[in-house]
Amino acid sequence: MPATVVVGTQWGDEGKGKLTDLMAFEMDMVVRYQGGHNAGHTLVVNDKTFALQLVPSGVLHPNVTPVIGNGTVIDPRVLVDEMDALAARGVDCGALKVSGSAHLVMPYHSELDALHEDRLGADKLGTTGRGIGPAYADRALRTGLRVQDLLDPEGFRIRLDAALGRVNPLLAAVFDRPPMDASAIAEEYLGRCAPRIAPHVADTVGLVHDALESGRRVLLEGAQATFLDLDHGTYPFVTSSNPTAGGACTGAGLGPGHIDRIVGVVKAYVTRVGSGPFVTELTDSTGDHLVAAGHEYGTNTGRRRRTGWLDLVMLRQAVRLNSITELALTKLDVLDGLPRLKVCVAYRHGGDLFSHMPHCQSVLREASPVYEELPGWQADTAAAAEAGVLPAAARGYISFIEAEAGVPVRLVGVGPGRHQFLELP
Ligand code: GDP
Ligand code: IMO
Ligand code: MG
Repeated sequence: MPATVVVGTQWGDEGKGKLTDLMAFEMDMVVRYQGGHNAGHTLVVNDKTFALQLVPSGVLHPNVTPVIGNGTVIDPRVLVDEMDALAARGVDCGALKVSGSAHLVMPYHSELDALHEDRLGADKLGTTGRGIGPAYADRALRTGLRVQDLLDPEGFRIRLDAALGRVNPLLAAVFDRPPMDASAIAEEYLGRCAPRIAPHVADTVGLVHDALESGRRVLLEGAQATFLDLDHGTYPFVTSSNPTAGGACTGAGLGPGHIDRIVGVVKAYVTRVGSGPFVTELTDSTGDHLVAAGHEYGTNTGRRRRTGWLDLVMLRQAVRLNSITELALTKLDVLDGLPRLKVCVAYRHGGDLFSHMPHCQSVLREASPVYEELPGWQADTAAAAEAGVLPAAARGYISFIEAEAGVPVRLVGVGPGRHQFLELP
């Protein structure tokens, strides 16, 4: 049985968690393939809201095996706290599997993240401050510690001492900061976290393949999004992993031939947290309206999200980069009541017109949007029980997106609730 990927098409927070939770009704396994606790995936089920960071968004389904794959970076303290918080709310994480090959986010990673940002001053990236970049940097340098090191206290101490042998002089010489204490870190990671995480550590690559070979259905859940991708995003204003669908292969341990369905999640407008170019950004009262109506504040960091009109140049690029086979359009209800809607169909830069993403960041920074205007609708779509009752203008908006993106919209989100997704034929 081939696997399905859920991937964000913008700058994150498109509603990947909600879609994954809904699709998990028809899945046996949900695998997070990259990122760490920079992610915040919100699930709203009845009157309960869950904000997940590391635990896959299939966890609410007792029949689903949640897996944290090798491509992720894990702060074990956060994972333990998240499992405890879920348990306190009646959600059992007993079936959770964690790749022994995933890298650990260490206390010095978050410290370095904050110090780097501080040093950049006005040019800061606006990271989540969770140590994600430094953790992936250590992975690339081959100086990282991995989840499997939690099971090997002696090896953990050797690798930790080696890491601090590099980090502490850096902290002192460059940042004028005191050294970090290996014993305190070992006590927390090996003493407190390792016994809690050890029962979950597994050969997740083997588990994924066993599942696929026995005909079980596997969903690969992306965090962050296409334009935060280290290779394909708006570098340097990106995260340090590959959220694009190719990252699902490396981050879960399977080849592209195992995937036959790639669902791109696209918000009906665009948001971005942190710095970087944003061609359709709205800094006027319409932008404020989208923040208020869409509750556009970070799931975990609480930061106000920047907002703008839907950008089809980005969406076309996301379709290409991810081989998207279908779209899930979220937060259509947030556009309710706006008299007219603008949709960006191209970028203008000097005398040039771009219908596809310019590869040069200086062009992107200076590009201005070319808009098509579409009629809005004066109706409450959140109350819609099926797609057929959506106002004609809302259906027109969806058709326009499908035509421009070249792939069908299969689901339309009209509210945060688990079942506030309308199926399109
Ligand atoms: P993710 O990171 O892609 O999983 O998205 P987040 O959970 O960070 O942000 C999406 C936010 O929008 C969450 O608060 C969701 O509950 C909410 N949401 C998701 N889909 C819809 C929708 O169709 N309509 C509305 N109004 N809210 C939605
Ligand atoms: P989900 O999975 C939105 C952004 C940060 C910053 C940049 C780099 O909830 O969609 P990092 O801490 O990763 O080094 O920060 O990436 N960012 C996100 N923005 N949603 C996310 O995750 C994000 N994860 C990281 O704001 O601009
Ligand atoms: Mg989020």
